[in-house]
Amino acid sequence: MVSWILKKILGSKNQREIKRLMPIARQINELDEQFKPLSDDDLRAKTAEWKTQLAAIPELPDQWKKLDEILPEAFAVVKNAARRLTERQHTFEVCDQPMTWNMVHFDVQLVGGVVLHRARIAEMATGEGKTLVATLPLYLNALTGRGAHLVTVNDYLARRDAEWMGELYKFLGLTVGCIQHDQPPDVRREQYACDITYGTNSEFGFDYLRDNGMATTREQQVQRGYNYAIVDEVDSILIDEARTPLIISGPATVSTHQYDKWKPLVEQLVRKQNMLCNRLASEAKEAFDKNDIEAGGLLMFKVKLGQPRNKQLLRMMEDPEKRRAIDKAELSFYQDTRKEELFALKEELFFTIDEKSNEADLSEQGRTFLNPDDPDAFVLPDLISEFTEIDLNPALSNEEKEQAKTERQQICDAQAERIHNISQLLRAYCLFEKDVQYVIEENKVVIVDEYTGRKMPGRRWSDGLHQAVEAKEGVQIDRETQTLATITIQNYFRLYHKLAGMTGTAETEAAEFHDIYTLDVNVVPTNRPVRRADYNDRIYKTRREKYNAVINEIKESHTKAQPVLVGTVSVEASELLSRMLKREKIPHNVLNAKFHMQEAEIVARAGQPGTVTISTNMAGRGTDIKLGPGVTEKGGLMVIGTERHESRRIDRQLRGRCARQGDPGSSRFYVSFEDDLMRNFGAADRMTKIMERFGLEEGQELEHPWLNKSVETAQKRVEQRNYLARKRTLDFDDVMNNQREVVYTYRNDTIDSEEPRKLIYEVIDEAVPARVKEYLGAERDEEPNYTGLMHWVNTTFPLGLTTEKAQFETRTADENAQFLIEKIKDAYERKSSHEEPTAVKSLERYIILNAIDRLWQEHLYAMDALREGVYLRGYAQKDPLIEYKTEAYEMFVELMANIKNEVLHNLFRSTSNLQAFENFLATLPQFLLREHAPIAPTANAPSRMREPQPVGAMAAIAENGDGASEVKLDLPVRRAMPKVGRNEPCPCGSGKKYKNCCGRVA
Ligand SMILES: Nc1ncnc2c1ncn2[C@@H]1O[C@H](COP(=O)(O)OP(=O)(O)OP(=O)(O)O)[C@@H](O)[C@H]1O
Ligand SMILES: [Mg+2]
Repeated sequence: MVSWILKKILGSKNQREIKRLMPIARQINELDEQFKPLSDDDLRAKTAEWKTQLAAIPELPDQWKKLDEILPEAFAVVKNAARRLTERQHTFEVCDQPMTWNMVHFDVQLVGGVVLHRARIAEMATGEGKTLVATLPLYLNALTGRGAHLVTVNDYLARRDAEWMGELYKFLGLTVGCIQHDQPPDVRREQYACDITYGTNSEFGFDYLRDNGMATTREQQVQRGYNYAIVDEVDSILIDEARTPLIISGPATVSTHQYDKWKPLVEQLVRKQNMLCNRLASEAKEAFDKNDIEAGGLLMFKVKLGQPRNKQLLRMMEDPEKRRAIDKAELSFYQDTRKEELFALKEELFFTIDEKSNEADLSEQGRTFLNPDDPDAFVLPDLISEFTEIDLNPALSNEEKEQAKTERQQICDAQAERIHNISQLLRAYCLFEKDVQYVIEENKVVIVDEYTGRKMPGRRWSDGLHQAVEAKEGVQIDRETQTLATITIQNYFRLYHKLAGMTGTAETEAAEFHDIYTLDVNVVPTNRPVRRADYNDRIYKTRREKYNAVINEIKESHTKAQPVLVGTVSVEASELLSRMLKREKIPHNVLNAKFHMQEAEIVARAGQPGTVTISTNMAGRGTDIKLGPGVTEKGGLMVIGTERHESRRIDRQLRGRCARQGDPGSSRFYVSFEDDLMRNFGAADRMTKIMERFGLEEGQELEHPWLNKSVETAQKRVEQRNYLARKRTLDFDDVMNNQREVVYTYRNDTIDSEEPRKLIYEVIDEAVPARVKEYLGAERDEEPNYTGLMHWVNTTFPLGLTTEKAQFETRTADENAQFLIEKIKDAYERKSSHEEPTAVKSLERYIILNAIDRLWQEHLYAMDALREGVYLRGYAQKDPLIEYKTEAYEMFVELMANIKNEVLHNLFRSTSNLQAFENFLATLPQFLLREHAPIAPTANAPSRMREPQPVGAMAAIAENGDGASEVKLDLPVRRAMPKVGRNEPCPCGSGKKYKNCCGRVA
């Protein structure tokens, strides 16, 4: 009732808003009439005129006012141009296919254009021509000269739309560009320089990360600001893609994996486990046959633990009684009181696999199998007690103790690596399937996106998993990677001054758009009534029955020459269907991750009489299928969904491939109890009851509107869960986002700075007093540590201070800071006076950028660890988000301080020119020099400069100076804990990763 009232109110509010826009549409049409007599050149001249006028307005808000004023006229110009192209039957090529322009904006499309200009989401049904709608606001907003972006879901659509709509922009005198995955930077820069640029969200996002996180000069940056963006398929991009952030990673510095070494053993282990599980399943079957339901359920639960995708298990899960018995066994074991029993149960297997959390764990048996001589090889030693023991051993000298500890440490490291490798291999074997989660291409493991079926070349699973899969497939094992830069899609789009979106399916998510993005949704009515028939779902017990039914349906349509589009959720399902069709000798095309080269061609043919097209649901979005001759009379395109997707919107998008622009068309989904959605989200339970009541037999199907509801309830549940996950990601990323903004701004200021010396001096001005305070304890009651200060100064700067010269005791902390600042600046002036000025500027920028990049990457790593770590604290009744925010802030403050210290540290250790540096050294007081010349060149300086020389000898110089005897007193605190990799299991033996346990960033 409430929702009904809400809908009424919402509906009428929306209707009111849309109604208010109708007069504008009328006005545009009148202007369009007036423009008819103009020559092409006169029409085009308006573009240049407006551009000049807008360029004369300096402030963005004033430009926006102007845009609002000229909107009706500008839209009319675009519509008029479209009319001219139509009248001339203008022909051109889109994605290498011939095309004739035949569109003039409808009134509803004008309305949609206004909605987009006003930074809202326009919901316009599938096939209503949103591609054309976008031309209106893109043209208008591009007139500012600040660039306008159109964001699509894949490279094919970006290219299609840029080439298609490009004809219109070009006619009007605007340039249009298109970003594609394989473009080099200079090509990208040209595309961004165009008035209007099309591209995918990930290309835009990655370019942002590369520009702001990696480029070291303006020339290396490709983007030019974030003015106005329209996100096509906005629900897909801001909602579905929002769960995984964009990550740029590079090879990690060290790699010590042994995946290839362990592979044969793990392979055997998996085989043994499978045999064991099959035996258990047979025993279970016997128990069930003897009517011992409980024993059967227990045995099958064990199978589920050990081999969640066991065939017999899946089959038994179809039987309502057995399924209940298995569920019951599972539920009872997860009670707290039965923890030990569960543990014992797990120990009967070689290892356990958790499908939902993606975890794999070895049992005692498994460990013994892998290393019969020493099952402890897979348990981490108690390093802390061992170290204590060594420390307390009076027979050992200090040196021997160090030696012994290093040895123990190495053994422990090797063990940790081993455990990690094996658990990743187990996951690779038991949870990752070829042609589902990944494909093999050119001897590489390429991840397949689970939603679109698209390959994601260049992306890698983290934490060694990718390598484990590489080992499993016997392809080249690449190095492990580390995050270099990352941003979530949401935060990328927040960069735009003005953001709008369009899609056929936004309304169900209107609340989320409003809450998270402050984007309102306006539903624009269709130009003509939709004629699509959506039939009830057909539901089967097993996949096999389901697929057989699908094949029969295809056969039927095929015989009457009606085109069919079959949507699948995975590449594997596509290929299965394709094989089945081949057996039936039905010719068909497959559109999936593996063959996207011919995508456009396949799509172009999909509406021809008698064509059968199988596609992963990537074709579910944006693809435009035109009907061939005679197809309208046969009922238009028939869409068959072979599985309900997790989200309702994706299903609707698939249906939306037919019945476009008032065409006829129909759609139906086929569902089985073995589908993931049904298995994992409880839909099967309710269905099972219904099925029992109906007494469903083999091969029989169910069909009823109520059942559609049941499936949709399961979908809603998943949607809700995913919404929470997204909100969570965003809450956490907000913290990162603020930090990223500060760091990227600093970075860009450095790149842009004409006088980087100023930035260097700012660092000196801020960092030196902070360090002085640390030593002289201005805020504490401690004794001032003059020796420490002296040591720091003399190992960081070539000042050659002595106790007598410095006279620290005679000044306050502030005065000492001032004293040092002057001396440091003076020394720096002297050092750089010997170098070439432009080279010095580059070097100065480089010193800052280098410090930012190195420490920011470390920081990202630590933030990852923190984020995983705070979840564990959730158990201690603390809100992980608050914990995360507090600690992230502290870490950030520390990061900024570290960056400054690193800059100071490198100030006198880098030079743009060796000769100049030697000149500088020659001017230093003789006692500072002794026989120390700069050491050999190393790699951490800008490569475009000739042989830069970091001077590691500086410390040595200082230690040989007068401060030498005092220096020794202030050695840095030695690490008391052993060094453990952050991703390795914690040496305390908790079984958690080090970073989540003792190594938690506190
Ligand atoms: N004003 C128009 N006159 C004639 N045909 C049009 C017009 N606008 C759009 N079309 C046609 O409608 C079809 C669908 O257009 P388009 O692919 O842009 O739809 P869409 O709204 O983006 O759909 P989807 O939600 O599936 O992405 C195209 O074939 C296009 O040529
Ligand atoms: Mg579209």
